[in-house]
Amino acid sequence: MRMRSVHRPLKTALLLAPLTLGVAGAGGGTTPPAAPAPPVRPASAVQPGRPAGSAVSLRALADARGLLFGAAVNHTLFDPNEPDYARTLNRHFNAVVAENAMKWAGLHNNREAFAFGFADAIVDTAVKNGQTVRGHTLVWHDSLPPWVYTIQTREELLRAMQDHVTGVVTHFRGRVRMWDVVNEAVSDAPGHPLRSSPFLNLIGPDFIDEAFRAAHAADPDAKLYYNDYNTDGLNGKSDAVYELVRGMLVRGVPIHGVGFQAHLNTDFDVRGAQVQANLQRFRDLGLDVQMTEVDVQLRPGRPEAGELARQAAVYRDLLRTCLSVKCAGFVTWGVTDFNSWRAGGRPLIFDDVYDPKPAFAALAQELAPPGR
Ligand code: XIL
Repeated sequence: MRMRSVHRPLKTALLLAPLTLGVAGAGGGTTPPAAPAPPVRPASAVQPGRPAGSAVSLRALADARGLLFGAAVNHTLFDPNEPDYARTLNRHFNAVVAENAMKWAGLHNNREAFAFGFADAIVDTAVKNGQTVRGHTLVWHDSLPPWVYTIQTREELLRAMQDHVTGVVTHFRGRVRMWDVVNEAVSDAPGHPLRSSPFLNLIGPDFIDEAFRAAHAADPDAKLYYNDYNTDGLNGKSDAVYELVRGMLVRGVPIHGVGFQAHLNTDFDVRGAQVQANLQRFRDLGLDVQMTEVDVQLRPGRPEAGELARQAAVYRDLLRTCLSVKCAGFVTWGVTDFNSWRAGGRPLIFDDVYDPKPAFAALAQELAPPGR
């Protein structure tokens, strides 16, 4: 783990030097497991009052392009010992996603009552700071409270799911402009059938359509997304998602976009995986696309400088591809490496002490106005 540099202006200038790395390595694209142990940060790293990251504001560059450029946030946003977290978020991101606070177990652990307090605090803070909020996520096989598993009949679970979706979307109407309505419903098994879950097993495959219909009824202005991982490039799983959403469109289900999580590592080859062709086929269906949970893990045991450069190249290629298909958003799954769910892989664009990494400079270059 590196310590904070004293020579910030020089370092920032170096970071903004053109990246000359090519892209090497084969496909990659599997979702590595969450990192085992986060790094331990020295107490000296916490220095309130430091400038947030860099003279360049990614937010200003993204605003100029009309691109949602977001980060997933957690409790650190409200940690008085971490003022740089909010400062970095507000300076560099024009969109915010709750990393966990809007999941079913986060909002609706008690069947009888929603608990909106923490999610409201995130949303209110974002709105106050002029940031757009992506809602994540209404129906997911993970992060379900125990009471959902006690339900025994299709009718009861369908009603419970509809009530959950309606309650959440109604509560945030006007403040949360887009939702991941269904998350990760396609499995990784051969042929990529729908994933086993209480929803599939009890309601049947139409739980997906029903979730979107309930969300649309609760907020007709919200953009509704299907979201999944390992679907960034052309592959069997993205084929399955393509067929899923094409079918929804044919049936008149209100779906407006597809989210591609992009939990990657430095072996991922954006061109080799044919990310552009994949995103474009969804755009050709008339859908919006967003990269929704971008992080790029370093591979252990390789030289640090090369890994950081590779990481920057993956970020650069992914954003370039996203912009080339007029994607609606690009969201990193966290703010700093230290707060990442895969902290051990140091996958984000700010390091443990909020300093911009080469990947930050790569994104700044891609977002910069053409000809500059
Ligand atoms: C992850 C969070 O980052 C973790 O803090 C939590 O423990 C588990 O969920 N796909 C998703 C996200 O859609 O909701 C997941 O977030 C990461 C994978």
